[in-house]
Amino acid sequence: LTIGRVLITGASGQLGCDLRAQLGDNCEVAAFGRQQLDITDDEALAAAFEQTRPDTVVNCAAFHNVDVCEREVDRSFEVNARAVKRLADNCAAAGARLVHLSTNYVFSGDRTEPYTETDLPMPRSVYAISKLAGEHAALAYDPRALVVRTAGLYGLGGSASKGGNFATRMLERARSQDSLQMVADQRLTPTYTNDLAGALIEAIDRGTTGLLHLTNSGECSWHEFTEAIMELAGVQIEVRPVPTKQGTGAVARPLNGVLAQRAAGAAELIPLRPWRDALAAYMEAAGLLVAERAGGAVIT
Ligand SMILES: NC(=O)c1ccc[n+]([C@@H]2O[C@H](COP(=O)([O-])OP(=O)(O)OC[C@H]3O[C@@H](n4cnc5c(N)ncnc54)[C@H](OP(=O)(O)O)[C@@H]3O)[C@@H](O)[C@H]2O)c1
Repeated sequence: LTIGRVLITGASGQLGCDLRAQLGDNCEVAAFGRQQLDITDDEALAAAFEQTRPDTVVNCAAFHNVDVCEREVDRSFEVNARAVKRLADNCAAAGARLVHLSTNYVFSGDRTEPYTETDLPMPRSVYAISKLAGEHAALAYDPRALVVRTAGLYGLGGSASKGGNFATRMLERARSQDSLQMVADQRLTPTYTNDLAGALIEAIDRGTTGLLHLTNSGECSWHEFTEAIMELAGVQIEVRPVPTKQGTGAVARPLNGVLAQRAAGAAELIPLRPWRDALAAYMEAAGLLVAERAGGAVIT
């Protein structure tokens, strides 16, 4: 790999864990969770650069609870935008390259076709606005930055300690309820952080710069995603499709959150596998796959 020494921030999160694991054997990695490095602490950040002298910095840290961000505006911009500018400044000064993660939520989701990298963002929440500001900060202050927008992340690490990821939360709910309900009008491509980590490493290794969309392939609604989770886990439960609640204080989420991966295609990066295959791989790795499916033997 040509990535050199890598500094990972937010390394205890879902993506951070997988990235650290995949890079670990191939290059020198300094992985800082929030306890070791708060990216909003300018002095701590400068010290981390001094100590690790990175060639590549991957910022996996974010404040991304959409509902909490709506109430905590200053903190959202502090973590998702101002700290990213400082990371970019430090990278530019040290000759390192910043790789920063962003979100499909930068789009309004009002149209039906997937969004490409050149479509105009129209964020509709504090979280999304602060993430879009972070993208601009990365690209403006580090000329070699790579910004990767992704969607619907789940993985083995990270969030497990904070009530789990979407799949584990839904399975937990299914244990205590007779039926589930899930929005059927919001579409996305759920993405396995293990797959995203591999794709990120490929993109970084190939020297890709600028803005890139990276998700697993295909698309589904949150309702279809939930049904797939239940089916793979062998849980028999009705999942009732419901419409998204709009207005009345609800934070806006894009109905169409599907990202077209035009730049990745143009750069001839290997496309990520379909979301359903990735979900099955995750469920197997997490020990959540129903017994008759585990090991690849699907009994119908
Ligand atoms: N999750 C998704 O569905 C999704 C979708 C699209 C894009 N993204 C983007 O993808 C990236 C990775 O997401 P993820 O799902 O891996 O998130 P995650 O599991 O929540 O990891 C983020 C990590 O950042 C840490 N963090 C928060 N504030 C910090 C600070 N000030 N300094 C240092 N670390 C801090 C968090 O620590 P604490 O746990 O202690 O707060 C957490 O460990 C983020 O940029 C996110 O915006 C995520």
